Amino acid sequence: MTSHAYRARVLHFLHDPDLVPIEDSYEYIEDGLLVIEDGRVAALGSAQQLLPELGSEATITDYRDKLICPGFIDTHIHYPQKEMIASYGEQLLQWLETYTFPTETQFADEDYAAAVAERFLDELLRHGTTTAQVFGTVHAQSVDAFFAAAEQRDLRMICGKVLMDRNAPEELRDTPEEGYADSKRLIETWHGRGRLRYAVTPRFAPTSSPEQLALAGKLLTEHPGVHMHTHLSENLAEVAWVKELFPEAKHYLDSYDRAGLLGERSTFAHCIHLENDEWQRLADTNSAIAFCPASNLFLGSGLFKLQRAVHEGVKVGLGTDVGAGNTFSILETMADAYKTQQLDGNRMTPFKAFYLATLGGAHSIDCHQHIGNFAVGKEADFVVLDPAATPLMEYRSERCDSLLELLFVLAMLGDDRSILATYAAGACVHQRDNSETT
Ligand code: GUN
Ligand code: ZN
Repeated sequence: MTSHAYRARVLHFLHDPDLVPIEDSYEYIEDGLLVIEDGRVAALGSAQQLLPELGSEATITDYRDKLICPGFIDTHIHYPQKEMIASYGEQLLQWLETYTFPTETQFADEDYAAAVAERFLDELLRHGTTTAQVFGTVHAQSVDAFFAAAEQRDLRMICGKVLMDRNAPEELRDTPEEGYADSKRLIETWHGRGRLRYAVTPRFAPTSSPEQLALAGKLLTEHPGVHMHTHLSENLAEVAWVKELFPEAKHYLDSYDRAGLLGERSTFAHCIHLENDEWQRLADTNSAIAFCPASNLFLGSGLFKLQRAVHEGVKVGLGTDVGAGNTFSILETMADAYKTQQLDGNRMTPFKAFYLATLGGAHSIDCHQHIGNFAVGKEADFVVLDPAATPLMEYRSERCDSLLELLFVLAMLGDDRSILATYAAGACVHQRDNSETT
């Protein structure tokens, strides 16, 4: 079997830096060699140690002044919203009415959906994101189009058809029965095919009846291993609306809990305005939160309490939440995360930021068996970061004296220009066009 080796500074995480001493949370090799065979990690070590052991047929790519880390994981994003990113002026509920619903109507056309899916994946890979948990639209064909595109590129992706049977324009509504049947067909077609996984995807409690949420729970029971992906407690007007719509529920999360939607493969995006009991239920059920700071700032939703999640023992991953998030870049998302935590009196280390973007994200979506770090046997999804991507980054990174400083500079100044190359299952799926950086 041919080995492909990549020589670079290599960083990956073994533990959450908030739960162990920081220096025990990661492995960093200054002159490292990452060896890939058959799309998986075969070895990681120092170049000095591993170079002599490489077979004569092995190829070696020299990225010596660059930093390799596992591919970024975006735990919450909407592919149909690519074309409405940066839509002006509204908070959540008006933003949905004004921009989101009209945009999503177009995805009834599978050819249209297929074209957007391709360009969406191009954009993810340009930004170093190799896995994402993705909302489609209410149209089953939007999800067929997305999975077909992801399968062709051999990407590990999670996607689901939106369930939405009320409080939305008629052409975007399904019924509980249609939503159930379409989701079931999509699960049977796509879940577990290659690297693809399905998420049962009620948009949020206001757009699903209790009957629809109950059928979403039935899908999860009938298809063990399938994910669940929705929004929770993003905006105060939304929280108040859920209280009206679900008078019998203890709180917002309870509208999902009653339907059996919590669990180790469930992700709730945002979670800004949670009550004590909601934190407790998320922890008790091993459910995850997608922390989407760019979106939370853009829609004026509020500040996520990351330290509370650490203390409560709730899993967290990073999400861009495009199109409410105004960037595809997980590096820019780290910068927004840092700033929101500053406002909350919490100093977020760049180690935590890179952990959330890689192994933490993988744990949050229950894909850590496959991706998230360079443990031998894991899928070889990785990104080559260029700390000198722009004149300013070059100038600043030359003055870094520690790994912490270098990672912080990448997180605060980095964007798509910092992604020199992206690899998925060992194949190069994006190479920066150097004219973009000048
Ligand atoms: N809540 C319900 N739908 C959406 C959506 O599309 N984006 C965001 N940010 N929040 C939502
Ligand atoms: Zn969202």
